[in-house]
Amino acid sequence: MLRDTVRALAEAKIAPFAAEVDEQGRFPQEALDALSAADLQAVHIPEEYEGAGADALATVLVIEEVARVCASSSLIPAVNKLGTMPLMLSASEDLKRRYLTPVARGEAMFSYCLSEPEAGSDAAGMKARAVRDGDYWVLNGVKRWITNAGVSEYYTVMAVTDPDKRSKGISAFVVEKSDEGVSFGAPEKKLGIKGSPTREVYLDNVRIPADRMIGEEGTGFATAMATLDHTRVTIAAQALGIAQGALDYAKNYVQERRQFGKPIADFQGVQFMLADMAMKLEAARALTYQAAAKSERGDADLTFYGAAAKCYASDAAMEITIDAIQLLGGYGYTRDYPVERMMRDAKITQIYEGTNQVQRIVMARNLPK
Ligand code: CAA
Repeated sequence: MLRDTVRALAEAKIAPFAAEVDEQGRFPQEALDALSAADLQAVHIPEEYEGAGADALATVLVIEEVARVCASSSLIPAVNKLGTMPLMLSASEDLKRRYLTPVARGEAMFSYCLSEPEAGSDAAGMKARAVRDGDYWVLNGVKRWITNAGVSEYYTVMAVTDPDKRSKGISAFVVEKSDEGVSFGAPEKKLGIKGSPTREVYLDNVRIPADRMIGEEGTGFATAMATLDHTRVTIAAQALGIAQGALDYAKNYVQERRQFGKPIADFQGVQFMLADMAMKLEAARALTYQAAAKSERGDADLTFYGAAAKCYASDAAMEITIDAIQLLGGYGYTRDYPVERMMRDAKITQIYEGTNQVQRIVMARNLPK
C-alpha cells in the first residue's frame, strides 16, 4: 500500500518536473510541497516527535519510489534521515523534541556536515574546531559537499573538540542556518542530482549554547559512523529507485521501437540485456531490504550490511542505467529521454556516504562472523 501510494504521488506530482529540475539545476520545491503535504518528507521520525514512525524498510520504500522518477527529490527524505539520525541515536530528549518535531511537521529540513575539503574518505582527519567558552561552544571551519545546504534549516556538524585524540576527540552539534557566522558557498556544478543543492558550509565563530552538543563530548565520530550504517541503506534505496526507473523505461521502449520489421524486444540480444538488468536489480533489492531489517532491529552486523547494500545497489544502478541507454541507442544518449539523466544521477550513489572503495574497507573490517 505504501509503495502504491508513493508511486502514485511521485508520478503525478514529482515526475512531471524531473527533467526541468535537472536541466535548470533548481531545487524541486514541487516535490518538497507534495511530500510534505502527504507527510512523506521524513517518515522515519518517531510518533512521539509527531512523525509517521515508519520503520527502516518503509523509509526505503518511500525513497525508492521517489528516486524512481527523480533522484534529486529523493534526497529530501534521504537527507532528512541522514541529518536527524545522529539525534535519534545519541541526543538528549530535549534536543530531540526541539529539532525532530519541526522536521516531522515539514517545517524544516536537516543536513549532515561531516566532510571537509581535505577530509573526505578520511573523515576523522577533519579540521573544523569547536572550543568551549563558558556555557557555549564556538565553531570554526569549512564543511564540504553538504547536500541540501542552504535549503535546510538545521545541520548536524561534526567538529574537533580535542585535537590530540583523533576520532575520539570529535563531537557532534546542532547548528542552525540562522546562527550568526553560518554561511554557504556557491552551489557545486555537478554531473547529476542537479536539483539537490550541494554547497560548502562556512562556520565563522559560530557561538552555540552548550546544550546543542549531541551526546557526550568525544562521541561525535562514533555517532557519525553509526548514522552512516543506517543511512547507507537509504542510498541503496535511492540506487534501486533510479535503476527501476531506467529498467521500466527501457522495457517499455523496446516493445514500441521497431527495427527489421518487429519490436526490438523480440531480439534475444535485447531480451538477455533486460533479463540481466532485472536480475541485478532484484539481487540488490533483496540485499537492501535485508539491510533495512537489520537497521530497524539495530543488529550488530548492520555495519557490514549497510555498506554491502550501498555498494552493491549503487554498482548495479550504474550498470543498469548504462544498459538502459544502450537499449535506447542514439535516443538514449539525448536529453529528450530520461535515461541519460538516470545514469548521471546513479553515479553519485557510488560516491557519497562513503565511496564504494570505503564500503569495501568497512565490509572487510566487519565481515559476518
Ligand atoms: N559504529 C559506531 N562506531 C564506529 C563505527 C560504527 N560503524 N565505525 C567506527 N566507529 C568508531 C569506533 O569507536 C572506532 O574506535 P575503536 O576502533 O576504538 O572501536 C572509531 O570510530 C574509529 O574508527 P576507525 O578506526 O574505523 O576509523 P578510521 O579513521 O579508520 O575510518 C572509515 C574508518 C571507514 C574509513 C571512515 O572514515 C569512513 O567511513 N569514511 C568515509 C566517510 C563517509 O562516508 N563520508 C560521507 C559523508 S556523508 C555524505 O556523503 C554527505 C551527504 O550530504 C550525502
